[in-house]
Order: sequence, then C-alpha cells, then structure tokens
Amino acid sequence: MEQPILSVQAVGFKAGQETILENISFDVEKGEIVTITGPSGSGKSTLLKVLGSLISPTKGEILFKGQSLDKNDPLEYRKKVSYFFQNAALFDQTVKDNLTFPYEIRNQDPEEQRIKDYLKKVKLPETYYEKAVTELSGGEKQRIALVRNLLFQPEVLLLDEVTSSLDTENKRIIHTLIKELNQQSDITVLMITHDESELSQADRVIRIIDGRLEEKHDE
Ligand SMILES: Nc1ncnc2c1ncn2[C@@H]1O[C@H](COP(=O)(O)OP(=O)(O)OP(=O)(O)O)[C@@H](O)[C@H]1O
Ligand SMILES: [Mg+2]
Repeated sequence: MEQPILSVQAVGFKAGQETILENISFDVEKGEIVTITGPSGSGKSTLLKVLGSLISPTKGEILFKGQSLDKNDPLEYRKKVSYFFQNAALFDQTVKDNLTFPYEIRNQDPEEQRIKDYLKKVKLPETYYEKAVTELSGGEKQRIALVRNLLFQPEVLLLDEVTSSLDTENKRIIHTLIKELNQQSDITVLMITHDESELSQADRVIRIIDGRLEEKHDE
C-alpha cells in the first residue's frame, strides 16, 4: 500500500495545565474523505489546526507523506494542506479583490476565465466578479471563500464546519464541489461536521470525545 498522506502519531495538545487532545493516532490515505465529529469542546477544531500546522502539538507528531511536519516549511505546507474554517473572512472590497489575491501572493497574473468558471461551479453568476463583498449573503460569502481556497488546489482540504450555518441548497452546492474535486483531482478531505445528513453519507467517521479518538468502523 502507498504510504498515508497524513499520519497522526500519538498526538497530544496541552494548553497550560489543560489537556485538550490526548494520544490521537490515525492515518489518512490519499483521496480519502474523512468525517470528524464529536461533542462541542471535545477538541475537533484543535485537531484540525494541528493538522493544518496552525498550531504545534505538544506531544507526538504528524507526518505528511512520511515526513515530519517539523521538517516542512509551514508556508509551503499550508499551500498543500489548506485549512478552511467556518465563516472565513473575506476582505471588505470586491469579489474580484478576494479571488485575485491567491495569484498576487504567488506573483502570477490572475486567470479571469478560470475564476469565473469557479463562480459558475458554486452557482454564482459571472457578474458577481465585480460585486462588493458587503452585498453578499452569508452563503454567498462562504462560497466565494471556498473558491479563494481552491483556485490553487491543495492536496489536502481541512474543512471546519464549513456548511454548518448554511441552508440546504448552499450545503448541496458545497458538497457537490468537494465531491467533484475529490473525484477529479484526488484531493484528500478531512471535514468536521455535526450535520446528520453529512454523517450518514460519510465513508469514514472519526469521533473525538473529550480529546480522545474513537473511530467508528462500518459493520
Ligand atoms: N489555545 C487554547 N487555550 C486554552 N484552551 C483552549 C485553546 N484552544 C482550545 N481550547 C479549549 O479546548 C477545548 C476544545 O476546543 P475545540 O475548539 O477544539 O473544540 P471543538 O470540538 O471544535 O468544539 P465545537 O464543536 O464547539 O467547535 C475547549 O474546551 C476549548 O475551550
Ligand atoms: Mg470547533
């Protein structure tokens, strides 16, 4: 078997005296969609931030394609493993400003057509390109933020309750896009959710309870 794209090895996280994650171990294979769930405050977001290299574990280690995260340059790593959180903020200008930003930081010319194709993929009309962010609904902002994360495709997408505040239609649009990326580009996805319908459709569910992992295997 190919080596896992992510290997979480006995990871613990302490903030002061408080243990937030304890002895978490699991592997994720390339192309998998893993759903993470568990009670509020159990440590799910902390785990995802550790995986996204936004914070460092206080115990154990994480391997990305067999290499310890300590040895990966965090900026390079975050291009490959992209953390996307609920209510991701857009800058307060236009959709265009937000969607050309990923090109600017890479010193590349924006590909206007590609951006507009992505707008279509998330069911927004091309004319939204020039729209002010202040004129967007919550669900539209969330979709634009997702496009911003996906213009340069990461290898792993870490999604922290990205659909929790959205209605059924917005949820469906985002699920369709994620599934499509997973199938077409073999993007690996780890997603936190409380949503029953997302959980019932999940291939693999990891439950975090009180900072510890319980994996539910299919019968
Ligand atoms: N840096 C920190 N310092 C101290 N406590 C923290 C820190 N980060 C998280 N916590 C605490 O750790 C626990 C787990 O937080 P986390 O955000 O990971 O939970 P969660 O499972 O994502 O919950 P929710 O479902 O409500 O989003 C909480 O009790 C939180 O208050
Ligand atoms: Mg959380």
